[in-house]
Amino acid sequence: MNSRNPSVPLSENKHLLRWVEKMAQLTKPEAIHWVDGSQREYDSLCAQLVESGTFTKLNQDLWPGCYYSRSDSSDVARVEDRTFICSLSKDNAGPTNNWENPYEMRKKLKDLFSGCMRGRTMYVLAYSMGPVGSPMSQIGVQLTDSPYVVVNMRIMARIGLPVIAEIDKDVKRVVPCMHSVGAPLAPGQKDVAWPCNKEKYIVHFPETREIWSYGSGYGGNALLGKKCFALRIASNIARDEGWMAEHMLILGVESPQGEKTYVAAAFPSACGKTNFAMLIPPAGFEGWKVWTVGDDIAWIKPNAQGRLHAINPEAGFFGVAPGTSMKTNPNAMAALSRNSIFTNVALTPEGGVWWEGMTDNPPAECTDWQGNRWTPEIAKETGAKAAHPNARFTAPASQCPTIDPNWEHPDGVPISAIIFGGRRATTMPLVFQAFNWSTGVYVGATMGSEMTAAAAGTIGKVRRDPMAMLPFCGYHMGDYFRHWIKMQRSLSETPRVFHVNWFRKDQDGNFIWPGYSENMRVLKWIVDRARGRALGLETPIGWAPHYEDMEWNGLDFPKERFETLQAFDRSAWRKEVIEHAELFLELHDHLPSEMVYERELLICRL
Ligand code: OXD
Ligand code: MN
Repeated sequence: MNSRNPSVPLSENKHLLRWVEKMAQLTKPEAIHWVDGSQREYDSLCAQLVESGTFTKLNQDLWPGCYYSRSDSSDVARVEDRTFICSLSKDNAGPTNNWENPYEMRKKLKDLFSGCMRGRTMYVLAYSMGPVGSPMSQIGVQLTDSPYVVVNMRIMARIGLPVIAEIDKDVKRVVPCMHSVGAPLAPGQKDVAWPCNKEKYIVHFPETREIWSYGSGYGGNALLGKKCFALRIASNIARDEGWMAEHMLILGVESPQGEKTYVAAAFPSACGKTNFAMLIPPAGFEGWKVWTVGDDIAWIKPNAQGRLHAINPEAGFFGVAPGTSMKTNPNAMAALSRNSIFTNVALTPEGGVWWEGMTDNPPAECTDWQGNRWTPEIAKETGAKAAHPNARFTAPASQCPTIDPNWEHPDGVPISAIIFGGRRATTMPLVFQAFNWSTGVYVGATMGSEMTAAAAGTIGKVRRDPMAMLPFCGYHMGDYFRHWIKMQRSLSETPRVFHVNWFRKDQDGNFIWPGYSENMRVLKWIVDRARGRALGLETPIGWAPHYEDMEWNGLDFPKERFETLQAFDRSAWRKEVIEHAELFLELHDHLPSEMVYERELLICRL
């Protein structure tokens, strides 16, 4: 078979060619490789990664098409304190983002990127967020010196030739994305398995729609289509163009009669978004189906009729592995069972992978995410984890058994309800519906989630994470709320807005609600409310279901326990509303008046 010469440009677009040349002059790579996105190229890059020690090929009988990787122990997660929004004015970035003067930052980046790809190949990776050619999609080109990034991006986005063909039409603006692990190689220098740099910069220029990422090869720092483009830059594009880029899953609920209703839901990280997106209805819901459109990001736009439609801009799942099992999420387990990449989980002696929570019984022995021998006994003694808590699987969305038949529809799917949720031991009932759009925006804007045991001394402290976008909104959060409020003007029908909390605890500290599949009962009430056929009780915070409004077939859940779960605690809410002011004070000079009035009205009702 003829093999192509990857250094020959695949595009004829002059702007692209000039930019690639200019960036190569800056970064001085040893070679340039235009990524075509083919299976053949993917296989060859994976073989190269095995050769260089970055990848281990898993036992192909157990894990067909799967690879395993361990990162440097200093490069294991998104680095929010090294993430910058360099808008022209500091005020546009707002108090919740790190800002630096864009001119100063450009100088710094020029120094950092100067010669940073020496001894490495620069990959030219064209990618589409959203199905290629969809009017809702956006295009980026990432120049990267990490083949690990290229193969992960092939799962997470649509890449290569079809995207280059789109670029060559020269119709859509292309977002330039520079990425380097920041580890140039001197002639003859042997590479390490996970090159990276202690100094990290994840930089966004919102006005020029550019991304520059330096020093990390991990996840959202390096797979630039995800958080950097699809949320931080896209939130800017969306505000300017009248749509929404949100940290939301999208799912479709299908009734036994074939009626399908799509909802989008925002939860902060580690609150079960992937599990909810892949929910399997419980006993008592025979004939019902939940379809998965996306598990992390939604781009939502009004169509010509003024109804909101959403696409999942991603093509894969970059999911947290620990806690994922056949019990918690069999659909995710099926999706990751082949053609997937595992990073920072544990490696078993049979050439398989394992992580905490995957099985009831741990393997007798394995190699942990740092390459050390791990046994359950060692774990008991030292507390060592086999997998890093932020260990990930990168899996093709098309392999999810519940992937929605419309998940790649170019016009997206119609959204009937928006759900906000967090992890709250107290105060927040299982579910309530906001009175209207602006109350709903207030509910999203004041969303909070309890910090987990990871942050010593702060357990139970509620961190405000508006719309789950605190680390991802690429401009002033107050202006973001205003954009949400204004969206209503372009809609003939607004989706109904809800708040859920799977994590309320009783006096003994036990979760009251079983969660997982049983969340279907909440979803059904939400769908029925959105379609105007379920009753509810008016409370000071919104509409709540009576016990009788919920479907209990298949679950023995006593009425008194439901009432504890749904209890509206006036004194807790008075405290809650005081806490809302903390974030609002920070944002006060950009806060839309609706937020102030909504808070006043809530205080009056309390
Ligand atoms: C993610 C995150 O990786 O939210 O999706 O951190
Ligand atoms: Mn996320």
